[in-house]
Amino acid sequence: MKTTWTPTTWQEKEIKQLPAYPDPEKLSDSYETLKKLPPLVTSWEIESLKAKLADVAEGKSFLLQGGDCAESFELTTSPKIVNMLKVLLQTSFILIHEMGVPVLRVGRIAGQYAKPRSKDFETVEGKEIHNYRGDLINKFEPSEEARLPDPERLIEGYHKAGLTLNFLRALSDEGFADLNHPEQWELNFMLNNQYYQEYEAMVQSITKAVRFMETISPEKFSSIQRVDFFTSHEALNLYYDSAQTRKVPRKPGFFNLSAHMVWLGNRTRDLDGGHVEYLRGIENPIGIKVGPPFEIDETLRLIEKLNPNHEEGKIVLITRFGKDNIEKQMPGLIQAVKREGFPVIWSSDPMHGNTFSASNNLKTRNFDHILEEIKSAFAIHRAEGSYLGGVHLELTGDNVTECVGGANGLTETGLDQNYETFCDPRLNYEQSLEMAFLVAKEWKQSYL
Ligand code: PEP
Ligand code: CO
Repeated sequence: MKTTWTPTTWQEKEIKQLPAYPDPEKLSDSYETLKKLPPLVTSWEIESLKAKLADVAEGKSFLLQGGDCAESFELTTSPKIVNMLKVLLQTSFILIHEMGVPVLRVGRIAGQYAKPRSKDFETVEGKEIHNYRGDLINKFEPSEEARLPDPERLIEGYHKAGLTLNFLRALSDEGFADLNHPEQWELNFMLNNQYYQEYEAMVQSITKAVRFMETISPEKFSSIQRVDFFTSHEALNLYYDSAQTRKVPRKPGFFNLSAHMVWLGNRTRDLDGGHVEYLRGIENPIGIKVGPPFEIDETLRLIEKLNPNHEEGKIVLITRFGKDNIEKQMPGLIQAVKREGFPVIWSSDPMHGNTFSASNNLKTRNFDHILEEIKSAFAIHRAEGSYLGGVHLELTGDNVTECVGGANGLTETGLDQNYETFCDPRLNYEQSLEMAFLVAKEWKQSYL
C-alpha cells in the first residue's frame, strides 16, 4: 500500500479541521519555503524514541506526555519554556522515584500550534468570523481579518518551534541546577493534602539520593545531568507536517522531521481521511486519540493501517473517554487489541473527556474528575491484564487558574484570576506535581 504514498497524497483525500487558505499561491510559496528549511529533529532521535516506546509497551518504563493545549507564538519566551521544562522534569522525577522505572518525557511543545475546533465559525459583535484554530493557522484576536487562515504562519511556526527547541536542548544539556535540589521545589501547597507526609518523605529521599551522587562523583554527575526530552504535536495542519517530511540518507522511509512524535486527533481519525493517509507513510511514532464516538472495529483497522508491520514502539493509543464513559467503553477495546496481537502502548488522557463550562462560561476541568478517569484507567487495565504505560496531560509550569480542585482547592469563582490558556484548561504547577504523585500511587497499586 505504501508504494502509492508520497508526503502529499493526503491532498487527494477529504481534509477535516483545516479551512481553505484564501490565497493558494501564497500557500504554495510558504510550502516551498518550508520544504527547504533545515529539519528541527533528526531521524536517529525519532528512532531512539521509538525504541524507548517499545520498552514502555513491554512494561519496563512509563511515558509522560504533556504540555500546553495550544502553544502561542507570542509566548515563545524564556520563562514559559523554562517553566514548562521544569514542571515536566519535576513531574517525571516524582514518577521515577515513586515507581522505580525510567520515565520517557515527551512534551506537547515546539510545534503544538494547530487546534481542531467543534465549530468552524463564531459570532463576534453580530458578525460570523472563522474560529481560532491555533497560531499556525490564524490569529487569536477576534476580528474577521485576523481569523483568516494565513500561510505565512506556517513559516513563523517553524521558526518559533526552532527557537523553543534550541532553548530546550540547551537547558537539557546543562541540566537545571534546581532540578537536582528538590528541597527548593515549591511544595508548601502540599501541606493541605492528605498525602503530605508521604510527599515530604519522597522529596527528602530524592534530595538524599542527589547528595549521594554529588558526593561520590562530582564530575560524572554533571555529565549524567543531560536529560532526554522529546517533542510532539498533533499532526493537524498537514501543510506544516508534510513540508517537513523527508527522506534521509541510507534509511528507508520518510520521517516527519518537525517533531519526534505526532498524534492523530480524535476528530480527524477517519480511515479514508487526509490525516490518516498522511500518517500511514511516516516512520515516527504515532499517537492515536481514541474517545467517543468510536467503534472498536474501526479503531482496529486504523491501528493496522498506521502500523501494518506491527512494529513495536510505533503506536501509542491515547484513550480519552471521560470518567463517565471509560468503564463502558475501554474494556472491549483492550480485549480487541489484545486479541489481534497489536503491539501498542496504552496511555490515558484524562483531560479531554472531562471538560465542562463553569458558571462564568470559562472552560474548565475538575482535578477530581481527571483523577477519577486515571484511577479507572489503571483499574481497568489491571483487570484486563494489560499495562497502562503512560499519561497524556495538559499542564503548565505557571500559576494559572484554569482547572478547579487540587490541594489548593481552586473554585469556579477563582478561575478568572489567571486564566491564560488559548484553548483547553491546563493543570497548573502545583496541580501537576500533585497529579504526578497520585498517578504514581495508582501505578504502584496496579503493577508492583
Ligand atoms: C488535544 O489534545 O488538545 C485535543 C484536541 O485532543 P482530542 O483530539 O483528543 O480531542
Ligand atoms: Co486540548
